[in-house]
Amino acid sequence: MERVKILVTGGAGFIGSHAVVELYEAGFQPIIVDDFSNSRDSVLRGIQDILGVEVPSHNIDCGNAEALRGVLSQEKAIRGIIHFAAFKAVGESVQKPLAYYHNNVGSLITLLTVMPEFGIKNFVFSSSCTVYGIPDQLPVTEQTPTKPATSPYGNTKKICEDILTDVAKADDSLRTILLRYFNPIGAHPSAKIGELPLGVPQNLVPFITQTAAGIREKLTIYGNTYDTPDGTNIRDYIHVVDLAKAHVVAVQRLLDEKGEKVEIFNVGTGRGNTVLEVVHAFERATGAKLNYTIGAPRTGDVPAIYADVTKATNELGFKTTSTLDEALASAWKWQQSLENK
Ligand SMILES: NC(=O)c1ccc[n+]([C@@H]2O[C@H](COP(=O)([O-])OP(=O)(O)OC[C@H]3O[C@@H](n4cnc5c(N)ncnc54)[C@H](O)[C@@H]3O)[C@@H](O)[C@H]2O)c1
Repeated sequence: MERVKILVTGGAGFIGSHAVVELYEAGFQPIIVDDFSNSRDSVLRGIQDILGVEVPSHNIDCGNAEALRGVLSQEKAIRGIIHFAAFKAVGESVQKPLAYYHNNVGSLITLLTVMPEFGIKNFVFSSSCTVYGIPDQLPVTEQTPTKPATSPYGNTKKICEDILTDVAKADDSLRTILLRYFNPIGAHPSAKIGELPLGVPQNLVPFITQTAAGIREKLTIYGNTYDTPDGTNIRDYIHVVDLAKAHVVAVQRLLDEKGEKVEIFNVGTGRGNTVLEVVHAFERATGAKLNYTIGAPRTGDVPAIYADVTKATNELGFKTTSTLDEALASAWKWQQSLENK
């Protein structure tokens, strides 16, 4: 049987590359679109090594309507789009807001404009728990009120959610699922693909693995006086392979025309861990010792957030299977493999 084609924008990125692998393994034909602004073409080799086949890939900016039309004409019969492509560095977005609005909001508008020309009706969007801001209650459900964004990056996610909701109201054919990711970590168990932060990592786990590998001198933990059991921030860390699998079930749900025209799902584990718990879990899972220090809290950091995953469990039938230790061990294996890449 012919595989159903799914366009994956940002398919060479961290989460996108893992989703490409899971989509293919579930019987879909992913088609990658990426401009490699935050990824390398070695990712494509990693995907090929895992799957044993080459996944079609197009080096274009998905915010370029003409280039996008070219890909969609060439590939034909694409049934859905998963839109990962975006800039994602919170700090950089404060320095370069226009670049973030242009890329993140502009590329969504281009995709939504072009997709009906090719009869594509199904759209999965990479949103973020950043839309909840500092929540009044934990865990957060999809009904938890969103808060004004504290960065241009966060604002682009909220604006894109609103655009998708408005377009779905106006366009009878569009069906969309907004996945609000919590904190993806880890790497494919093969260590052939993983997170490739360019420059100093912005996220905790790549910073931990680079510190353990001796690339960074020490990890700074930003604040230990928050109202949490050990005073450090709480986040919901989800293994990237589990997160990738959520996209497979989301796409299938759209194709099956189940659920509402616009649906929102939290994608996390439902558990919160403090930064110190992650550090200790990393040491436990890998046997590596970590050099860390406590620094000042960062302005704008959310003290604690983790997901209520009841809706994803009940309606998507989605459940994470990896433990924090497994995710951290996979991140370490990936870090070690980078020395040979
Ligand atoms: N990683 C996280 O912690 C996290 C959390 C919540 C939401 N998200 C969202 O998930 C998505 C994927 O995140 P990621 O961590 O895999 O990031 P990533 O930077 O690794 O992947 C994004 C990919 O998109 C590509 N890209 C960017 N703009 C493009 C454009 N205009 N045209 C074509 N390709 C383009 C980049 O080259 C990169 O390969 C993003 O939308 C991000 O905002 C990520």
